[in-house]
Amino acid sequence: MKKIVDIEFGSQRYEELVELRYKVLLEPLGLKFLDSHRDKEMGYLHVGCIEQLDDKLVGGLMLAPVDDKTIRMLQVAVDGKYQNEGIGKSLVKSAEIRAKEAGFKIIVMHAMLSVADFYAKQGYQQKGDIFEEGGVTFVKMVKKI
Ligand SMILES: CC(C)(COP(=O)(O)OP(=O)(O)OC[C@H]1O[C@@H](n2cnc3c(N)ncnc32)[C@H](O)[C@@H]1OP(=O)(O)O)[C@@H](O)C(=O)NCCC(=O)NCCS
Repeated sequence: MKKIVDIEFGSQRYEELVELRYKVLLEPLGLKFLDSHRDKEMGYLHVGCIEQLDDKLVGGLMLAPVDDKTIRMLQVAVDGKYQNEGIGKSLVKSAEIRAKEAGFKIIVMHAMLSVADFYAKQGYQQKGDIFEEGGVTFVKMVKKI
């Protein structure tokens, strides 16, 4: 059984999420997790998915407030062993509820073009042109919540 939880910045779970995001997202792109990232993430909302059988963190994401209405979804990551089981979808859905409860009206993100369809399936729409950053192609996507 999986459950979606809020993760407190600086907690042991947060450190597990940092490690998971590094393994799933940053390392494959040749990027590092820096202390400056940690400083920025202090003000973000962190959401995780736990496999309750062994208390293991299997996925997570972050939400970063942009302004009063808009929040940005960042670094959605599911452990490779647990992908395609609906965890990513549950995380995104829960993040939308969390963001709405906090008073936000719009979620924005820079999705990797290779996973844009994952977000499109959940109602996110492409906005503007695709762009490249550090050799990776991204597309800006938005959803009203
Ligand atoms: C992309 C990712 C978050 C998806 O999470 P997941 O748990 O594997 O996906 P789910 O099982 O919830 O899939 C939900 C739906 O999206 C589809 N989907 C999953 N990954 C997809 C992909 N890469 N491209 C297109 N569709 C995808 C599934 O087939 C499923 O479709 P359905 O509802 O019609 O059955 C996960 O695979 C991941 O962490 N990938 C590596 C890191 C990454 O690319 N993160 C995104 C950064 S922008």
